[in-house]
Amino acid sequence: MKLAVVGGGSTYTPELIDGFARLRDTLPISELVLVDPAADRLDLVGGLARRIFAKQGHPGKIVTTSDLDAGVEGADAVLLQLRVGGQAARQQDETWPLECGCVGQETTGAGGLAKALRTVPVVLDIAERVRRANPDAWIIDFTNPVGIVTRALLQAGHKAVGLCNVAIGLQRKFAALLQVTPAEVHLDHVGLNHLTWELGVRLGGPTGENVLPKLLAEHGDTVADELRLPRQVLDRLGVIPSYYLRYYYAHDEVVRELATKPSRAAEVAAMERELLTMYGDPALDEKPALLAKRGGAFYSEAAVDLAASLLGDGGSPVQVVNAYNNGTLPFLADDAVIEVPARIDASGAVPLAVPALDPLYAGLIAHVTAYEDLALEAALRGGRDRVFRALLAHPLVGQYDYADGLTDRLIAHNREHLAWA
Ligand code: G6P
Ligand code: MN
Repeated sequence: MKLAVVGGGSTYTPELIDGFARLRDTLPISELVLVDPAADRLDLVGGLARRIFAKQGHPGKIVTTSDLDAGVEGADAVLLQLRVGGQAARQQDETWPLECGCVGQETTGAGGLAKALRTVPVVLDIAERVRRANPDAWIIDFTNPVGIVTRALLQAGHKAVGLCNVAIGLQRKFAALLQVTPAEVHLDHVGLNHLTWELGVRLGGPTGENVLPKLLAEHGDTVADELRLPRQVLDRLGVIPSYYLRYYYAHDEVVRELATKPSRAAEVAAMERELLTMYGDPALDEKPALLAKRGGAFYSEAAVDLAASLLGDGGSPVQVVNAYNNGTLPFLADDAVIEVPARIDASGAVPLAVPALDPLYAGLIAHVTAYEDLALEAALRGGRDRVFRALLAHPLVGQYDYADGLTDRLIAHNREHLAWA
């Protein structure tokens, strides 16, 4: 089996390689191609990747290239994990929204829109080239904002599934707290990418006993600390929101906090410099502990599981992914992209049924879906007015003067990445 990783020069890649090495029985890779325009990073990351495979006795060959078309040729699956504009663009996304009193975050709010506008055209071009090289290849999209990017891919007719590590991270965390194996924990996970709630935590599978009340009663403080939300909020909701809901439920508090500390992009950029120095050490042959400080924990497990199910029958039958709604949430259009547990096999992802949702969650999901619609319009067709409409529709913006100020800043900071600006 041949896999290609676009954005393979990412400092995150050793996490992926470590998963491929450990889980080689689930996903037998014969060739792994790391594709990245940054040749210097690719050398460092590729070198470490080969040492990790060698140490763990993985027989697969690792190839590095900056030639996308050659790299994806013959690949059975292509993982997209790129960041247009790098951490420098992320730094901007996290900064200028604060000038308007809005949250500065890479996927939520105005920063997330900027990322979508930069990213969608690039990803669509890559996907087109993947399709030309191999029309049967699956595209696994990690590239943020995953909901909007996945929708762009599906709308253009690509064989794509969107993936995020939030659900698998919670599954691992809850399994540890409940002292069971991760495979025993099924999450009733519902919403949109980076806008999800766990409505139930079940043991043994989708119809197993819901132990969420027990989890909250016994470990509520630990879970709340991790999400950085007050324990009472979890108790009052009776469900577990993902940490991205903090940008909504504690928006103003987060804005105040962000104003007083360095951006996450700056922190990550410093870590990346350190990581790349480590990767250059020929004695290093495993993923360094420092990588655990990044947000991507377990993304390799999620990727292996998904690729194994799409390409054969090695993965878990039910996985949390981003896919077309197709009636799952009846208040959304069929072609909205949602993040829910789905049955995965070689023909793709089919969401499991979701019980009727409390308006407390349905309302926000519908609102953000409307924003995502308009964001995709703006990403595909450009224009100041489309950017403004997407921002006005966003529940964290909503007022015309904020939307105007944010639109001006978004365009000013992203001109080099926007063909129309
Ligand atoms: C989580 C999210 C990813 C995001 C990452 C950021 O893993 O699910 O979508 O890219 O966090 O982590 P970072 O270390 O870059 O802040
Ligand atoms: Mn994510």
